[in-house]
Amino acid sequence: MKNIQDYIQKNKERYLEELFEWIRIPSVSSDSNYKDDVKRAAEWAKNALIKAGADNVKVYPTEGHPVVYGEKIVDPNKPTVMVYGHYDVQPPDPLDLWDSEPFNPVVKKTDLHPQGAIFGRGTCDDKGQAFMHIKAFEAMVKNDFLPVNMKFMIEGEEEIGSPSLGKFCEDNKKMLENDVILVSDTSIIANDTPSITAGLRGLSYVEVEVTGPNRDLHSGTYGGAVANPINVLADMISNLMDENRHVKIPGFYDDVLEATAEERKKINEAPFDLEEYKKALEIDEVLGEKGFTTDERTGIRPSCDVNGIWGGYTGEGAKTVLPSKAYAKISMRLVPNQDPDKIGKLFGEYFKSIAPKSVKVDVTYLHGGLPVITPIDTPEYLAAEKAMETTFGKKPIPTKEGGSIPIIALFEQILGSKSVLMGFGLNSDAIHSPNEHYGLFNFYKGIETIPYYYKYYGELKK
Ligand code: BES
Ligand code: MN
Ligand code: MN
Repeated sequence: MKNIQDYIQKNKERYLEELFEWIRIPSVSSDSNYKDDVKRAAEWAKNALIKAGADNVKVYPTEGHPVVYGEKIVDPNKPTVMVYGHYDVQPPDPLDLWDSEPFNPVVKKTDLHPQGAIFGRGTCDDKGQAFMHIKAFEAMVKNDFLPVNMKFMIEGEEEIGSPSLGKFCEDNKKMLENDVILVSDTSIIANDTPSITAGLRGLSYVEVEVTGPNRDLHSGTYGGAVANPINVLADMISNLMDENRHVKIPGFYDDVLEATAEERKKINEAPFDLEEYKKALEIDEVLGEKGFTTDERTGIRPSCDVNGIWGGYTGEGAKTVLPSKAYAKISMRLVPNQDPDKIGKLFGEYFKSIAPKSVKVDVTYLHGGLPVITPIDTPEYLAAEKAMETTFGKKPIPTKEGGSIPIIALFEQILGSKSVLMGFGLNSDAIHSPNEHYGLFNFYKGIETIPYYYKYYGELKK
């Protein structure tokens, strides 16, 4: 291990410069204008894997964006770890809220990252975290330390719900065979409080269209006499939750696995400072389902949020118009054992049922994913626990996180593999927001920790 850690130390500046190159490629998967950039980011990952020492590295085209795969098979009788990550990123907008260019990474210090953090889209989610694995692998190869077989699968459609990856897994089952999937695409509680994600929420995402009159109308001539779809949509949205922030969709909670008193106790024992939380977000009060704490609300309870709402006139100055249409994008975060399709359907039925006759309502299901629970008593998990304990000097706490990685549940269904979610980001790193960043401490701590994962996994799996 010493050789490996020395190698990492000696090469840390180069590691960072290489990551910057990857960040500079604007691989926005949701926007077709960036299609070639997404492909370039895949090619870049392929070359990075080859340089690090992987074999059989290839960019695999799919119906959507390509998948990058590479491997190092040392002995077919040894266990195999497959690293999963994504090289696609969220759109950078709103651009004017960035303090630096989203695709021109710079290092700046922050309160939580006194050693500096890399600012740029994808720094934390997920190029920076995926790259830690490539560089840890390079250090292992260069020092002839390969205790288990390793595979890498880095995809380009995570941020749009991984529409092509399920089929890719089906089509390449043999190649992707593994004993565990190792993922760094989640958070730790704090830089002095390591944690391992043992649960993720699922997702059901819909778009609604509310249509009133067949054309935009003069809001004086018709205002007050004809349904305004924006007003109606606002009424309907305010009908999604009751005064206790309980979702009103009939059947919404039917399949929710209620946490036991013991589980709830555990969740609330994890360090969490509500005052700090509010201060960091500059809010005077939190808001969520009555009867649950903040960690419970994001970890074990479902939620419902409008992600975007539009219609009518939003340009400069005033235009008097009663619009024909109004739209909203609405996401529901799900917990075990809720089903995304079923929840999407229940939403559609309810939303239509609360619409007044004066409008027409259309609901489109955009995408979804199942929630995840990972075991915390397997060699696969314990290796991560030991690795983090070694490098942080503290035993990591299992947490449940509110975000989603829809492919994780499919890995289990298609490949029969469980995952270990050993992420190194902070929830305050502004992923999906302007000024996304990733701490240098976190980047290097991740690279330092990963080789220990393989060491302990090799030992524990025997
Ligand atoms: N890395 C995130 C998921 C995440 C973030 C997990 C923070 C835990 C903590 C992932 O890239 C992501 O953003 N997922 C989307 C899924 C969606 C686009 C299908 C999400 O959660 O919104
Ligand atoms: Mn991610
Ligand atoms: Mn993301």
